Amino acid sequence: MAQLSRIGVSLDSELLDRFDTFITEKGYDNRSEAFRDLIRDRLVGTAVVASKAPVVGTVTLIYDHNTRLLPEKLADLQHDHHKVVISTLHAHLDHDTCLEVVVLRGRSGEVQQLAGKLISTKGVRHGRLVVSSPDTVLPHRHPRH
Ligand code: NI
Repeated sequence: MAQLSRIGVSLDSELLDRFDTFITEKGYDNRSEAFRDLIRDRLVGTAVVASKAPVVGTVTLIYDHNTRLLPEKLADLQHDHHKVVISTLHAHLDHDTCLEVVVLRGRSGEVQQLAGKLISTKGVRHGRLVVSSPDTVLPHRHPRH
């Protein structure tokens, strides 16, 4: 287990009230665990994670399957990176619109790069990558208080 360090944080009371309401709604037992999760989430979300760190991620894509060659391009990209793509879920939202969720696992750099290519493929209307870093998030989740 990593060594535990204590820090003091100054907050105005209104912000602290909002924070306490937030953590109660989310079901946290104490502020420390909530702080840790927020910090981890922020660090992972902003790619502070080293590019070689192992991560898992999901890319959500919304697109019109009638866009010329778009489904083929997205499938080609995924086949080109088949070692990073774990799984794909496809839902036909309506007559024209597709939702695709691509599950990725690999080094942070390659996951971000592939996600960027998928999201930036011409014709993709909306795309979003959510990354989780098993190394950062999973250990030390429940240190002794
Ligand atoms: Ni579809």
